[in-house]
Amino acid sequence: MKQLMTIAFLLLGVSALSAQPRIDQKARERAAELVSQMTLEEKCTLIHGVKDGDAVYEDGFHIQPVLRLGIPAIRMADGPQGVRNKTNSTYYPCGISLAASWNREVAGKVGEGIGLDARARGVAIMLCPGVNIYRTALCGRNFEYYGEDPYLASETALHYIEGIQDKGVMATIKHFALNNQEFDRHGVSSNADERTINEIYFPAFRKAVEEGDVACVMTSYNLVNGTHASENPWLIRDNLRAWGFEGIVMSDWTSTYSAIGCFGSGLDIEMPRGYAMNYENAKVLLESGVIEESWIDEKCRHILQTVIAYGFLDNPVKDESIPEDCDISRANALAAALEGPVMLKNEGLLPLKKSRKSIIVLGPNADIVPYGGGSGRMDPIEGRNVTLYAGLSRLGKGYKVELMDWKAPDYEKIRKAGAVIIAVGFNHDTELENADRTYSLPDGQDALIASVAEANPHTAVVVYSGGEVDVRPWIDKVEALVMAWYSGQEGGTALAQILSGKVSPSGRLPFTFWGSLEANPAYPNYFISKPYGQRTAKRYSQYPFVEYNEGIFLGYRGMEHFGVKPMFPLGYGLTYTDFAYSDLSVKALDGGYELSFVITNTGKVTTSEVAQVYITALDSAVIKADMELKGYEKVTVAPGKSETVSVFLPASAFSHYDVSSHAWVNDAGKYRVNVGASALDIRLFREISHGEE
Ligand code: BGC
Repeated sequence: MKQLMTIAFLLLGVSALSAQPRIDQKARERAAELVSQMTLEEKCTLIHGVKDGDAVYEDGFHIQPVLRLGIPAIRMADGPQGVRNKTNSTYYPCGISLAASWNREVAGKVGEGIGLDARARGVAIMLCPGVNIYRTALCGRNFEYYGEDPYLASETALHYIEGIQDKGVMATIKHFALNNQEFDRHGVSSNADERTINEIYFPAFRKAVEEGDVACVMTSYNLVNGTHASENPWLIRDNLRAWGFEGIVMSDWTSTYSAIGCFGSGLDIEMPRGYAMNYENAKVLLESGVIEESWIDEKCRHILQTVIAYGFLDNPVKDESIPEDCDISRANALAAALEGPVMLKNEGLLPLKKSRKSIIVLGPNADIVPYGGGSGRMDPIEGRNVTLYAGLSRLGKGYKVELMDWKAPDYEKIRKAGAVIIAVGFNHDTELENADRTYSLPDGQDALIASVAEANPHTAVVVYSGGEVDVRPWIDKVEALVMAWYSGQEGGTALAQILSGKVSPSGRLPFTFWGSLEANPAYPNYFISKPYGQRTAKRYSQYPFVEYNEGIFLGYRGMEHFGVKPMFPLGYGLTYTDFAYSDLSVKALDGGYELSFVITNTGKVTTSEVAQVYITALDSAVIKADMELKGYEKVTVAPGKSETVSVFLPASAFSHYDVSSHAWVNDAGKYRVNVGASALDIRLFREISHGEE
C-alpha cells in the first residue's frame, strides 16, 4: 500500500511539478511587488542566513523568513551524495562515480532520487552538484566532482540537475569558480587566462544555466585572478548573469571577505550568516553613498522570484506522501552503483569463477561503506548500507567468503584461498574538503597489498577514492584492480555483482590516470606559485596564487601537447567482453554532423560499451588540443549482436573561445572525427571539411 502511494505521488508529482518550475514574468513581477513592501531591515534579513539570537534557523541552512509578508523560511541541505543536515537519507554514489558511469540516465536517476528525498524532508534547495574540474589527484574534493573533461562534466551535471529540479526542488551548482584545490582554499588565487577559464572551467556552469535552468549557483572560497569569487563582479555579472542566469547566487559558507565586495559584486545571499551583508553594514554603506538600495532590491528579487517560480511561497515543500526511505531512491542508488566502478586491470582473475570457492576479503574498506568527508558526507539510513563483504556474502551458493582482520592477516589462510580481495583507499577522514589528500594510499595499505599479493597472486584490489592513487608499489603484483570510488549504500551489492560476473563492469575513467603525480602536466602548476605575503582583504595582490600554466591542455588534452603518455587514458575501462567498431558514416546536419556507427559485442556476455567521439583540428590557425571530447554514448550490447549508435556533433563542437571578441567562434577547417573506446583507443575516424565550401 505504501509503495502504491509512492508510485501514485510520483506520477502525479512529475506532471504537476515539471509543468513549468521556471522564472517567468509573473514571478519577476510578484517578487518586485513584494520587495517594494519590504523595509531595509527585512531586505537585509533575506540576504543572509541565520540572524543573531535566532533559535529557529540557527543551523545555517535556511533563507530567513519574512513572516509579515508571507515569505516562509526556505530550507537547504547539502549533497551531492544524498540529502545531509539533520537527517539520515539514501546514500548515492559520489560525483566521480556518476561521471565514471558515462551514463546521462544514471546521473538523472541520482538527481531524481535526491529530489524525492528532499521533498520528503521539506528541503527546497539542494546544495549540489559540484562541478569543479579535476586538475590533479590531490584535490580533496575530486570525489564530489565530475572529472577532468568539461563536456563529460557538463552532461553529467545537466542530467543530475534535471533529475532534482523535475521533482520541484532547486539545485545549486557549485563552486563558481576555479576551486580546483582545497589547500588554503580561502587564501589562494586561481589564476588562469580567459580562454582556459571559458573552455575548461566554465562549461559545466554555463550549460547548467543555459540548458539546465539551474535555480542556484554557489560561489567558491578562492580568489579568481586576484578577487574572491563571492565578491567578483567579473564572474557573477559579466559571465554568470550574461548567460541569462536569473536565479540565486549564494556564497559558500563563510566565503565572504568584505561588505562592499559582497554588496557590490552581484552576490544575492551570504551563507551561513551575515558576516558582511548585514543591516548594520548596509546602513553605513548606504549613508555614505558607497552602495545603493537598488542593489539590495535586486538581490531580494533574485531570491524571491526563484522561490516563487518553484511555488514555495504558496505551497509547502514537504510532501508527506514520499517516504524518507523511498523505494525509488534505493533502486536508483543501486542502478548508479552498478555503472560507476572502473576495472583497470584484469589478468583473468575476474569474474571470480565459481571454482574459486574460497574468497578472503580484507582491508580497511572491506566491511564498512566508506564515504568522502566534509559537507559531502552522508548519514545513511539505518540498515541500508551494504558493505563489500556483505555484498559478496550474499552471492550465495558456490562462494565461501571470509572476512579477515586486515591488521592481523593470516598469511597461511591467504596462501590457500582461491582469491583474495583487498578493499583499500580513502574515507571521510582522509579525503575531504578543506584539505588536499596524499597521492599514496594511507595507513600502510601499500605494504598490506604487496605482502598479501606475495602470498597469493590471485589478488584483486578494490580502491575507494575520488581519483587516481599511486598504484606503482603493487600494480604488477596483483591480478586485478577495480576503482570503486565511493559507491553509496548499494556499493557492496553492486561490486559483488561486478566481481562475480553477474554484471560486466561498464565504468570508464573520467580523468587521465597518469601513473605518477609528476607525469601530469598540471602538477608543477598545482602548488602555490607565490610565497605568502601579509594578507589583508584590501591587498589582494598579497594573496598567494596558483598559475594554471597548463592552460587548455589539461588532462588528456595535454598528452600530445606535452608529449606525455598516461598509465590509463581518459575513457579507459575493461569489461568481460570485447567490442568491434564499424561502419562510420558522417552526415552534415543543421551546421553540425550526425555520426552513425556500429558496435558489435564479439565476446560472451552482455555488456555496455562507452563509445567516445573526439575531434582533432587538422589545420586550425588557433592552437587547439589534439583531442577534444565532443560526444559519447553508452550502449548495452548482447553477445554476438550489434547496435547502431548515433551521436550528433553540433557546429559549436568546432569552436574555440576567442579572447578578443570574448565569445565562442566557430572555426571552419579540416577536422578528424575520431570514434573510440578511450582517448588512446581510436577505432574509426573520418576527415571532414567543416564550414568550408
Ligand atoms: C562547502 C559547500 C557546502 C557548504 C555547506 C562548505 O564548506 O564548501 O560545498 O555546500 O559548506 O555545508
